[in-house]
Amino acid sequence: MKTLRKTNLILMLVALSFLIGCKDKDQNSKNTDEPVNVSYTEEELYRPNFHFTPKEAWMNDPNGMFYYNGYYHLYFQHYPDGNVWGPMHWGHAISTDMVTWKEMPIAIFPDEKGYIFSGSAVVDVNNTSGFGKGGGQPIIAMFTYHDMDGEKAGKTNYQSQAIAYSLDEGQTFTKYSGNPVIKNPDIKDFRDPKIVWDSIHEEWLMVLAAGQKIMFYTSPNLKDWKLKSDFGDGIGAHGGVWECPDFFPMVVQGTDEIKWVLLVSINPGGPNGGSATQYFVGDFDGKQFTIDPSFEKDLNSSEHKSIWIDYGRDNYAGVTWANIPDTDGRKLFMGWMSNWQYGQEVPTETWRSAMTVAREVELQKMDASYRLLFKPVKELTSYRSTKYKKESIEIKGNTKITDSKVVDLSSTEINFIIPDLKDKSFTFKLTNKQGDTLAFGYDSSDKNFFVDRRKSGKTAFSEKFASHVSKAKRTSLNPDLSATIILDKTSIELFFDNGETVMTEIFFPNSPFDKLSIEPNDQEFVLGNIEIHKLNFN
Ligand code: FRU
Repeated sequence: MKTLRKTNLILMLVALSFLIGCKDKDQNSKNTDEPVNVSYTEEELYRPNFHFTPKEAWMNDPNGMFYYNGYYHLYFQHYPDGNVWGPMHWGHAISTDMVTWKEMPIAIFPDEKGYIFSGSAVVDVNNTSGFGKGGGQPIIAMFTYHDMDGEKAGKTNYQSQAIAYSLDEGQTFTKYSGNPVIKNPDIKDFRDPKIVWDSIHEEWLMVLAAGQKIMFYTSPNLKDWKLKSDFGDGIGAHGGVWECPDFFPMVVQGTDEIKWVLLVSINPGGPNGGSATQYFVGDFDGKQFTIDPSFEKDLNSSEHKSIWIDYGRDNYAGVTWANIPDTDGRKLFMGWMSNWQYGQEVPTETWRSAMTVAREVELQKMDASYRLLFKPVKELTSYRSTKYKKESIEIKGNTKITDSKVVDLSSTEINFIIPDLKDKSFTFKLTNKQGDTLAFGYDSSDKNFFVDRRKSGKTAFSEKFASHVSKAKRTSLNPDLSATIILDKTSIELFFDNGETVMTEIFFPNSPFDKLSIEPNDQEFVLGNIEIHKLNFN
């Protein structure tokens, strides 16, 4: 980053007073900082502006995501008759850009074999399954049947894998008469099949969570599956049950090298408590996944013997989209923006839970090993409206960055750089007139990013929700820190160091946050390349 001369900075500061305006814009108006008693509906306060939520009732994991004929499909664990977890269906939504979603009728219903648990869907382009009619390409969904009666009867084999096919581009599904396609081999937690077409070995490949392991299966036709191997003994985090895996090859950015990436969700046992998703990078020979020695070394020297796709408490069970055209070539991801510790108690009644923003995943070779980088999908940028873009702002002490008179702080993208981070620490605060505060930033004394929602508004619904400050160790060696912040009414998504460290957390203020300020520890503190975009969804 270019260092600006002091005189330039002073001129810029004057010109920028509208942005960091420590004064109110309209000086003749009443003092609006006085507490006000305004009542809001749940919809106004907590329904996100742009994160996907079901119109009504309970939602958890994203399922069966695929792209076809111009539409991104998102299915989700859904209990349409209640606002807590219950008999699972696959809800359905479609989008042309992964940002604006249209909820569709429920796609898969539970039946006498059980609830419809998490799973995936693929476009069977060559009709390997034979379900396609008249040259059409069937969509095949694979899910876990969860037999409640079996569970209640104390059996261990109550989860099995089944398929269903759709001949109308994913709107309705017919369950296969030969279900289950994989019977339970007497493993209690045996679920969440994720299929990928292995173009390297030219067959279908499926990963399944089985207790504390991932099992790898292959198939020529999506109906007959063979177990090839497993992975997970003694490696990574094991504080809870392994769930919702994903497995795919990726080209290492800027090279021709291909590595395989395994995502494994775990609950509980996340880095900041409860649910979270770890990952592994390695090689796959068509049968067996082997973790890369450099990644294993890195893993073992990392704080929790695991590396996480997100260190915040609200990104769980996320997986990637199938059938993204080669002309696009991106790996696209979405997660459930909640946590099993308190997800069923959050203060919304008519619906519960949202998804994260869709994220693009990249694989990079760093000094020591490989890292996944996550960033919001570029489609989100086409919703940008008003924009503030400045090369540099010098911050002295506690400084207001902006407020809701200038930019709505509940559908906002903020980007900045902190040149030469070194021993600098900073705390951003989102506040409202009720005195609620969401704090986040970086503490150089322990090299941690943090999110502190302890005073962020409604927190008492669960003692786990605001029990502590969430932390994430900074791993990047870049002297400059870059950040992208995505704000909605009830969520913050922090992408630090080009998405090497991500933190996603939800919150429930008593009134919308209307002021953003920053407090650095250092008198010589500069925010560089700052951009504040209002995201417009009307
Ligand atoms: C993860 C999970 C999955 C399961 C689903 C049930 O959140 O526990 O393992 O399939 O939720 O709704």
